[in-house]
Amino acid sequence: RPRVLSGIQPTADSFHLGNYLGALRQWVKMQETHDAFYCVVDLHAITVQYDPVELRRRTRVAAAQLFAVGLDPDRCTVFVQSHVPEHTELAWVLICLTGMGEASRMTQFKDKAAKYGEGAASVGLFTYPILQAADILLYHADQVPVGADQKQHLELTRDLAQRFNHRFGETFTLPSPYILKEVEKITDLQDPTAKMSKSSSSPQGILDLLEQPNTLRKKIMRAVTDTGTEIVADEENKPGITNLLRILSALTGTSIPELEKRYAGQGYGTFKKDVAEAVIETFTPIRERAEKLLADEAELDRMLAVGAERARAVARETMEKVRDRAGFLPSF
Ligand code: TYM
Repeated sequence: RPRVLSGIQPTADSFHLGNYLGALRQWVKMQETHDAFYCVVDLHAITVQYDPVELRRRTRVAAAQLFAVGLDPDRCTVFVQSHVPEHTELAWVLICLTGMGEASRMTQFKDKAAKYGEGAASVGLFTYPILQAADILLYHADQVPVGADQKQHLELTRDLAQRFNHRFGETFTLPSPYILKEVEKITDLQDPTAKMSKSSSSPQGILDLLEQPNTLRKKIMRAVTDTGTEIVADEENKPGITNLLRILSALTGTSIPELEKRYAGQGYGTFKKDVAEAVIETFTPIRERAEKLLADEAELDRMLAVGAERARAVARETMEKVRDRAGFLPSF
């Protein structure tokens, strides 16, 4: 079976629709066809200012959501990144193979760093994509299911894998991004040209997986749409309607042309109501399962311990090879 690895940050109280459609749904599908490893990347979450009590809570909430969307511990490995120390160990080796210029070109770093004062972003934030490369390469992943915003990090990962292999001998698999065009960038409901994002300025633009039906409905009914009345996909002139069409299409399995036909001559109101119902129908059972999982923290922690054990077995083996090839003296 081909291997997949992907990760998600525990940086908010809930994942959102962009995470779900852009990544998590593919994670669930791929556990059937791939040898799948999925991690809650808590080490990535500390690259920006954070509160340790919140981080611990959010890491559990993140894990609960992963199981709630349908990841099955019998079919895939779900674990917490910091439980596998090899991630940071490999990251250091890769950091030493990365050029300053190369790392400086990462657009996500530039965007995030811009929010801090000049020079105030952490060095961790700068090396963030290299830790991500370590996550992927440790498991010899063939495919990495992600949204469009991760493309550049995947390119860096391939470059680093190639560089290591070239200098020290064939060690790493070159991973390919697995990105579904139709859902690669779900946009903000209030600013439909921007990516729906945990760090968005207004919560009104984000649909959270753990949100109550009423709130979801309100946000969707108030979503910014475009002038005109036609329900057609038109990225340029109707980014709001296009985003909602993509969402409804992904959630119902109905193609966009079919939806355009169905809603021809109808107002935005009916259409939005249907989008809201589709979102609520999808999110409600997920929220209920997550709540149940969170009610038993000991069991949740135990599930993560099982995942960590399996992940460590793979990571340890890779790191042994890496240490040897990179020229470190054996310690026993
Ligand atoms: P993160 O936590 O920001 O997001 C998790 C996943 O959700 C996708 N995503 C979206 N997809 C479509 N539309 C959106 N609006 C949207 N917003 C988020 C992201 O592309 C991602 O797939 N750097 C990664 C975490 C990471 C990782 C890894 C991923 C760490 N190590 C190894 C893959 C492999 C991140 O910040 O994702």
